[in-house]
Amino acid sequence: MKMWETFRSVAEFDSFELDGTKRRLKKVASIDDLRRLAKRRLPAGVFDYIDGGAEDERTLGTNSSDFAKLEFNPRILRDVSDLDTSTEIFGVPASMPIVLSPTGFTRIAHSEGELAVTRSAGRAGIPWSLSTMGTRSIEECAAANPNGEKWFQIYTWKDRGLVQELVARAKDAGYGAVWLTVDTAVLGRRERDVRRGMTLPPKLGPQTLIDGALHPAWTWDFLNGGPITFANIVGRHAEDGSTAITLADHVAKQFDQALSWDDIEWLRSIWDGPIVLKGIQTVADAKQAVAMGVEGLGLSNHGGRQLDDAPTPVSLIEPVRNEIGDQATIICDGGIRRGSDIVKAIALGADAVSLGRPYFLALGAAGEAGVDWLLDFYRTGLERTMALTGCRSLAEIDRDLVAWKR
Ligand code: GLV
Repeated sequence: MKMWETFRSVAEFDSFELDGTKRRLKKVASIDDLRRLAKRRLPAGVFDYIDGGAEDERTLGTNSSDFAKLEFNPRILRDVSDLDTSTEIFGVPASMPIVLSPTGFTRIAHSEGELAVTRSAGRAGIPWSLSTMGTRSIEECAAANPNGEKWFQIYTWKDRGLVQELVARAKDAGYGAVWLTVDTAVLGRRERDVRRGMTLPPKLGPQTLIDGALHPAWTWDFLNGGPITFANIVGRHAEDGSTAITLADHVAKQFDQALSWDDIEWLRSIWDGPIVLKGIQTVADAKQAVAMGVEGLGLSNHGGRQLDDAPTPVSLIEPVRNEIGDQATIICDGGIRRGSDIVKAIALGADAVSLGRPYFLALGAAGEAGVDWLLDFYRTGLERTMALTGCRSLAEIDRDLVAWKR
């Protein structure tokens, strides 16, 4: 009898969650878990394209492990019952200091692609970015998230007329800032893609067929989603009219290796909003960008996908801030896997962080609900870290809050 009462006092059975996505997300506690879920659901070639980095992937690893070199000096007994994570980025309110980075080929993770991500960012109240290599158009994304802040990313392709057209379309559609990616004069060597012969969009070879059969949910969604194209440059991207290309081929044909500081002036002549250089990796270049009037510095090594052994963005924040003072907005990307990483970046002097791979994996793991989960994970992590370190607002997160471990 006693046994039965004890059992009843502890037994609690959740009703079975019928929605498979919700059921899967219930078991996800961290971004590592989300990554594992994405790995299970995505064909290996797709997962590796998103997850992988350049060459020996050392920078991919140090981008996040460098955050672990910082510890907090938490302050106690400060009333933290009312926390405010909000900020302004280029004068536009954001509910937290996160910008979603541009990612190419987003539909390979889920057929909704950029539409799902921009809707989620809109709900979360943070800026979202569309890549030139995006798989949904400038206009459809604007319609999906009409009130949210949207940024557009460009490379300076050899076809400058095309880039100018895209920037004009972004302006007409209400995009508020432009990222210019400056770390991709040539494409980094992603050896996982080399090994798998990865093309984008994925081609149907025997390996893809086997991979597809092993990942039926992804395959069903992929086949029903319609052909994947670079939605902004349909019909313009492959001279032979084909849609399947290797990324390396496309970069070799279109990317302008002659890109130089003069091109910043050219960009200024066609875009009058804020410009963010994405891929600044030294204090000297940060200084030059500011001297040229660039509003935003994207401290980034492209998520470890370009130059292996590039410096980690987190290690650059403080030296860059010390050099430029308040003359530009600093956005740090690379390896931010927790709300506590955001607090560390802000403490060192960043205005905001940006992230790409985590939401791409979230989209692959659980579609739009996965991206919602992720943004909530960052928000609650940010709030929890602020509460545990005694910071009520981003303004209270100052340099004394963190120290490099000895
Ligand atoms: C494109 O920017 C990529 O990193 O694959």
